[in-house]
Amino acid sequence: MQKDLFLKTEGNNYYNRNQQNLDVVNKTSDELYSGYKKYINDGMVILEIGCSDGHNLSQLTKDRKCVAYGIDPSQDAIKDGKHRFPDLKLMVGTADELNLPDESIDIVIFGFCLYLVDRKLLAKVVAETDRVTKDNAYVGITDFDVKIPRKRRYKHYEDIYSYKYDYSKLFLAYPQYSLIEKWNKPSKESVFFSNIEERIGTTVLYKNHKDAYLFEAD
Ligand SMILES: C[S@@+](CC[C@H](N)C(=O)[O-])C[C@H]1O[C@@H](n2cnc3c(N)ncnc32)[C@H](O)[C@@H]1O
Repeated sequence: MQKDLFLKTEGNNYYNRNQQNLDVVNKTSDELYSGYKKYINDGMVILEIGCSDGHNLSQLTKDRKCVAYGIDPSQDAIKDGKHRFPDLKLMVGTADELNLPDESIDIVIFGFCLYLVDRKLLAKVVAETDRVTKDNAYVGITDFDVKIPRKRRYKHYEDIYSYKYDYSKLFLAYPQYSLIEKWNKPSKESVFFSNIEERIGTTVLYKNHKDAYLFEAD
């Protein structure tokens, strides 16, 4: 399973490769994720799945009184993140098995994570996300925004594939999720790929059971 490879070696390899380009990583992250800020208020509990060392979480919550959880398979990233950002609650793990209580999270963010998840585990990831989120929670997905699903061999490891897909569709199949915002260019400075194969998109979904079904009188 890809998940085991990420837990064993590839999570650490990804993290350690990127330590050489921290300026670029931080700048790109800021451009890509700053659009989430308006959804994050004091008192919220936020979770980033595939958070690396928590640099996005730290940016997103730095002037908010939030509880912020981050999960990533890289032991190195989590160890460094705990040191760098002691206010974050970081843990080693994967998206399909979240070590968090039911209905405890107000906003979940997936930043370039779902494209690495084993296809056999995708449904489990949706179920886990749904389990840990409160009613009225937001789910944010930043990933490649393609019209046709595609897979590509991961250039750093032959047995791993990355999968481009509109992952919001997995949640939108359920009536309790609605699409409330989508952006392909969050700010003037951010990169926009005119080539649809490389285009990056963010979708923000809102979960609400109360209004999901119209009540039919008997
Ligand atoms: C491309 S990086 C993105 C990191 C960060 N979200 C960002 O945007 O800077 C993908 C991250 O997902 C993690 N990852 C890979 N497979 C995962 C899985 N099954 N569950 C959770 N995270 C995973 C990797 O370890 C890596 O840190």
